[in-house]
Amino acid sequence: MADNSVGTQSFATQETSNSGKKIRTAVIGCGMISNVYIDAMKRIPEFEIVGGCDIRKERLDWFTKKTGVTAVFEKWDDMLREVQPDAVVVATPNGVHMPASVAAANAGCHVMTAKPMAMTPAECQLMIDASKKAGKLLAVGLQFRYRAATEMFVRARDAGDIGDIMYVKCQALRRRGIPNWGVFGQKELQGGGPLIDLGVHLMEAAHYCMGSPKPVAAVGNVWTYLGDKPCDTQCQWPNWDYKTYTVEDLAIGHVRFENGAILQVEASYAAHIERNRYDIQIMGSKGGFDWETSSLFTDRAGTMLTSTPAFTPEDQMINWFTAKMKNFASGILYGTPLRAPGEAGMAIQKMLDGIYRSAANGGREVAID
Ligand SMILES: NC(=O)c1ccc[n+]([C@@H]2O[C@H](COP(=O)([O-])OP(=O)(O)OC[C@H]3O[C@@H](n4cnc5c(N)ncnc54)[C@H](O)[C@@H]3O)[C@@H](O)[C@H]2O)c1
Repeated sequence: MADNSVGTQSFATQETSNSGKKIRTAVIGCGMISNVYIDAMKRIPEFEIVGGCDIRKERLDWFTKKTGVTAVFEKWDDMLREVQPDAVVVATPNGVHMPASVAAANAGCHVMTAKPMAMTPAECQLMIDASKKAGKLLAVGLQFRYRAATEMFVRARDAGDIGDIMYVKCQALRRRGIPNWGVFGQKELQGGGPLIDLGVHLMEAAHYCMGSPKPVAAVGNVWTYLGDKPCDTQCQWPNWDYKTYTVEDLAIGHVRFENGAILQVEASYAAHIERNRYDIQIMGSKGGFDWETSSLFTDRAGTMLTSTPAFTPEDQMINWFTAKMKNFASGILYGTPLRAPGEAGMAIQKMLDGIYRSAANGGREVAID
């Protein structure tokens, strides 16, 4: 098991102690997901929201209405200088995570950045370096490690029910779900399509479940066949911007790890399948697991058993965000370990990058440093 595998002690959500200390926090990128970050911070007394930044005036108006905070700015440099926050949440498109996070670290802020950490490993390294130089925390919003199924699996793994993990299959598949808002179809602003946007969630939870082994090689391919054409089929999000669509519709990849284990990922915005699937299947030498159904497969007393939990904690998005923001607050105030530091984001980014590089290289295997 890798050094940074998760012990069962990590299952207790690290509580902040409502000590009266305040973390003055600003939000860079006041779009859709900032709403959930703000709701999570409102549940944690140590967070005081002190500023907002967005290039769109209407989102700044929305931010002020939601938080009551009038210190809003179109440029993060102005906000960092005038508000001087202790921490920032970066919730911009992927291509802006790096410059906003580096600027915030250089201004002496702890940073929580939305997933994926950035568009490339080189950008991730700049973020890690800036935070280290500033002596501040860098956390990545990888929330699927806070989900009930992930926690159930890690407990079973640590109890010895799984044995050696050999193979993990991740699926992040939409039948027809090409985003028709934001810039999700623009490669230069996002770094890619469903692999970097959706696959990242399942890959990070899978990698965490595996005990964070070191990736060494990747193969993969990507295909674009619908997103770059006008929408002519009834679906939940019609009329996406096909004219600016430069990302993949479907990505398939394999990642090989130093310990010989293999992770396969399938990610799509548009796949001809029965239904959307967000799943991780894990095969170990003693047991296996299906994440979507929280099913544990073991052999006991001469019988193949399938076990499902009789109770799981409430598994809502707001709870995952609250848990990750509590972990961030606890790290800032008490020096407790981050469950998803920049290094975890980097490991996932190297896998994503390896699959994209292989795809650009005719599907040949590429090394991951
Ligand atoms: N963890 C999750 O479950 C989750 C879910 C959705 C999105 N995300 C991530 O959050 C990020 C934002 O996604 P979204 O759906 O909220 O997108 P969005 O388009 O709704 O919001 C992004 C906001 O950033 C603003 N912005 C763009 N450039 C900026 C700049 N230079 N300075 C300041 N603001 C800028 C935009 O105007 C917009 O309001 C993405 O990286 C996405 O991957 C995470």
